[in-house]
Amino acid sequence: MINDKLKKSGFLNIPVPENIDLVEAIKRLKREKNAVILAHYYQESEIQDIADFVGDSLALAQWAAKTEADVIVLCGVHFMGETAKILSPEKKVFVPDSDAGCSLADSCPADEFEKFIKRHPGHTVISYVNTTAAVKTLTDVVVTSTNARRIVESFPPETKIIFGPDENLGNYINSLTGRNMVLWKGACHVHEQFSLEKILALKEEHPGALVLAHPECKTVILKIADCIDSTSGLLKFSTHSPVKKFIVATESGILHKMQLSNPGKVFIPAPPNDATCACNECNFMKLNTLEKLYNCLKYEVPEIFISEEVQRKAVKPIRKMLEISGL
Ligand code: 13P
Ligand code: SF4
Repeated sequence: MINDKLKKSGFLNIPVPENIDLVEAIKRLKREKNAVILAHYYQESEIQDIADFVGDSLALAQWAAKTEADVIVLCGVHFMGETAKILSPEKKVFVPDSDAGCSLADSCPADEFEKFIKRHPGHTVISYVNTTAAVKTLTDVVVTSTNARRIVESFPPETKIIFGPDENLGNYINSLTGRNMVLWKGACHVHEQFSLEKILALKEEHPGALVLAHPECKTVILKIADCIDSTSGLLKFSTHSPVKKFIVATESGILHKMQLSNPGKVFIPAPPNDATCACNECNFMKLNTLEKLYNCLKYEVPEIFISEEVQRKAVKPIRKMLEISGL
C-alpha cells in the first residue's frame, strides 16, 4: 500500500494525523530512530528551524560522512541524498520528496557526459556536486561552489581539465585561475533567471546596498556583484560586513538564515526576469514540507538506494574532494 502511494508521487501521500504538534512529533520520531535531519539553506524556513544542521552542499556532505546517527534525512534535493548515501552506505538515507531533483544535474545526462569525456582524451574530469551518482562515477574529483577554485588550483597549471555541468561556475573559475577548462554547457534554471536591469534598478533605489551572488549566476550578474561565493560564503560575508543592506542573487531560502544571523540588516531578494513567477525559488527544494518530513521519518520512505558498483566508483571523487577541502 505504501509503495502504491509512493509510485504516484515522490513522497508518501497520506495525511498526517490531525491535532498533532508536527514539530514535536518529528523531534520524537527523530530521537526514537536515532536520526539526524540535515537541511540545505534553500529549504523552507520551518524545515531549517527543525533541522539538526543547516548548511551548504559541502557542509552537508561533510556531516553525512561523519555522523553517528543510524538514519539521515536530507532535506534538500536528490543529488544531496545520493551524496550522503554514497558517503555512508551503511546508513538509511531519505529525502522527504524524492521528486526533489535539480535542473542543473538534469542538464548533464551520464551517457552524454561520457561521450563528451571521450571527445577530450587526456583530460582530468572535475564535476560539480550537483550531478547524479552516475556522472560522479565518470569523475576524477567532485567540487562544490565553496571549494571549486581551491580544487582546480590543486592541479598543476598545465593540466587539461573538463569541468561540468555548470557553465557559469566553470567560466567564473576559469576567470579566477587563468585556466582554460573545457566546459559542459549546463545551467541552473533559478540562477539563470536573475535580471541585470532589475538588480541595477534596485541598486539605484537602495544606494550603498551590496550585491551578493552565487557563482551559478550568469557572468553579467557576477560582473556587478560585490561578493561572489557559495551560500555559506555569502552568509558569512553579509554577517562580517559593516554594510546594512544587501541584494541577494541566489535562491531566496538563504534569506531566512541571513535575517536570523543579522537582525539589524536588510536583505532584498534579487528579482528574476519574469515578474509573474517566483523564479528565485527552487521549486525542487520547496517540494519538501514538514508533513512529508513527518511521513518520511515515520514510515521510512522514500529511501535513497545506490548500487554497490556505483557507490564504489562514485565515493572516490567525493572522498578526494573532502580530503582536499579538509574533512
Ligand atoms: P551551495 O554549494 O552554495 O550549497 O549551492 C548549492 C546549490 O544547489 C546552488 O544552487
Ligand atoms: Fe539545482 Fe538550481 Fe535548485 Fe540548486 S537552485 S538545487 S542548482 S535547480
